[in-house]
Amino acid sequence: MTSRYREVYAGWQKNPEAFWAEAARDIDWTTPPDQIFDAKAGVYGRWFPDAQCNVCWNAVDRHVAEGRGAQDAIIYDSPLADAKARFTYAQLLDEVSTLAAVLQDMGVGKGDRVIVYMPMIPEALFAMLACARIGAVHSVVFGGFAAKELATRIDDATPKAVLTASCGIEPGRLVTYKPLLDEAISLASAKPESVLLLQRPQVVASMIEGRDHDWAQAMQSARDAGRRAYCVTLNATDPLYILYTSGTTGIPKGVVRDNGGHMVALKWTMENLYGIKPGEVFWAASDVGWVVGHSYIVYAPLLHGATTVVYEGKPVGTPDAGAFWRMIEEYKIAALFTAPTAFRAIKKEDPNAEHIKRYDLKSLRTLFLAGERADPDTVQWAERILGVPVIDHWWQTETGWCIVGNPVGLGMLPVKHGSPTVPMPGYDVQIVDEAAHPVPDGKMGSIVIKLPLPPGALPTLWRNDERMHESYLAEFPGFYKTADAGFRDEDGYLYIMGRTDDIINVAGHRLSTGGMEEVLASHPDVAECAVIGIKDALKGEQPCGFAVLKSGVMRDPAIIEKELVSLVRDKIGPVAAFKIAVTVARLPKTRSGKILRGTMKKIADGDEWTAPATIDDPAILDEIRDSLKAKGV
Ligand code: COA
Ligand code: AMP
Repeated sequence: MTSRYREVYAGWQKNPEAFWAEAARDIDWTTPPDQIFDAKAGVYGRWFPDAQCNVCWNAVDRHVAEGRGAQDAIIYDSPLADAKARFTYAQLLDEVSTLAAVLQDMGVGKGDRVIVYMPMIPEALFAMLACARIGAVHSVVFGGFAAKELATRIDDATPKAVLTASCGIEPGRLVTYKPLLDEAISLASAKPESVLLLQRPQVVASMIEGRDHDWAQAMQSARDAGRRAYCVTLNATDPLYILYTSGTTGIPKGVVRDNGGHMVALKWTMENLYGIKPGEVFWAASDVGWVVGHSYIVYAPLLHGATTVVYEGKPVGTPDAGAFWRMIEEYKIAALFTAPTAFRAIKKEDPNAEHIKRYDLKSLRTLFLAGERADPDTVQWAERILGVPVIDHWWQTETGWCIVGNPVGLGMLPVKHGSPTVPMPGYDVQIVDEAAHPVPDGKMGSIVIKLPLPPGALPTLWRNDERMHESYLAEFPGFYKTADAGFRDEDGYLYIMGRTDDIINVAGHRLSTGGMEEVLASHPDVAECAVIGIKDALKGEQPCGFAVLKSGVMRDPAIIEKELVSLVRDKIGPVAAFKIAVTVARLPKTRSGKILRGTMKKIADGDEWTAPATIDDPAILDEIRDSLKAKGV
């Protein structure tokens, strides 16, 4: 099939408002949009400023009303809990409307924030949808974060309630959420009024009288009383959720998503980008704590009337490297979406893909990869073992959906390994130099997007228009700064090569080295420090910390290094995967005092490096190399 991409993209370029007005017809509005875009509203304009809607209606009730009640909405599969379950759209409606009534009984209403701190279980989706139903703004916090990170988010979002479970399950250990939550609430200045706690069979958590409510009991009472909440009417521009993501400091950015634009964009992608029909099974093997989970475990597949999959397991070790293939066969999955690191993990365990021979994967049409750069080796390996197209696509928490991809539904363009292909309608992507001038094809530059961003992308940061402006809009006036660098080739294909800030990508998880530096600097023996991301064959990158000790510190550096590793785990969480701390005598700096992180990274990665002309003392670079060698890096 020849691709309709160029025609569709040109159509969007010619008249963006007409394009999004047409896409908006697929949504059930309480008040359909008259005005498509208001350039004067918000930080850079707002989509569908006069429309009204409810996301939960479109993701749940609408499908029941249209005859999909008996179709599976959610398939839950947990090798870690040894549990499986299915929820039809009718059952989902019952769960979500009852839970929404429970939230109302707890005093939660339109505009109130609710933190969802939960593992990969269907109740996490019920929680998000219940908030959407009554206009509460959810903020899901990933389970791998420590209490302090949770506290920071509680203080920024000031939630009325927190929804949690007694535990998450990681291979070989239970993650007890409740003590982490209790600690976070005691650290936070903003105290939520109530906590709704789901007791899982693996761990029974203690409850605080007056504040904590038992999930099962509250649901039962609501059912006994015949309580169900109906969908409230919201402005398309009202916030649906806040999702915190790493910024360049320890304070995460609260990315805001709206109700209307978000629905329009995500619904458009299901058919046109992912090539999925309502009723098919779509599996995003991520976590609801990340943007991929928000958009493609929860909202997009449900808005589309597809079946989504909640998998509480890993690509390897639960029980083996055939886990993904078992899932595809068992649930007749049409498209799988995951991070390249998951495939690197499978390849490492089972390089000849022996496990795949045990399964029938004929339902699978496409594999989508995102979250980090898809290295050509991994893409080629996945193509070979699966025999289906492997589509890399690039996006960010901020955009909420794909910026550059290969639109399977419009007809695939030829794949070029190492490139996520071409900009999606909505995105005018340009490569510029420091003065914001376009650079020629083939030349690296900063990747920017001409404003306005499309529907679905962040309108602002939570209660912080100023940080939104400073972080994304100030440096290149008229453009959104992606903070990624890359180039475009002569066919218009984009190549995304890495970040221009101090964000690193570890196993598809976005982390701030600045945040880790703040933690290392808080150690009483540390005078100064630097954290860089270094190459890792499995996770893409891993953090590596350098610390200069205060003069007069006589303690064994090896002990201090161990303390630094535990400090990052305690303060940020296991997800930081911070395992290497090296004490050094000095850090390499320019004469103006800037730490030469880029050169240190080249040394650690074994890449060619030369001492920059501005370096204060070149001998320090040799010291760094020797310290890394002594550490076995
Ligand atoms: N709750 C608590 N802890 C968690 C967690 C969660 N939800 N998720 C991960 N962790 C912990 C892990 O147990 C691990 O702890 P450890 O140091 O005690 O071993 C640590 O955080 C680091 O996790 P991770 O970097 O994911 O490494 P891993 O060794 O557990 O797994 C992969 C490696 C490649 C299998 C895994 O990262 C993976 O499946 N990635 C898929 C990509 C993905 O989901 N990306 C999200 C965006 S699309
Ligand atoms: P997150 O906000 O967690 O989704 O991380 C976004 C960042 O991950 C981007 O800014 C990129 O640096 C990186 N990233 C995500 N997807 C890709 C991809 N397909 N190719 C290259 N980098 C990617």
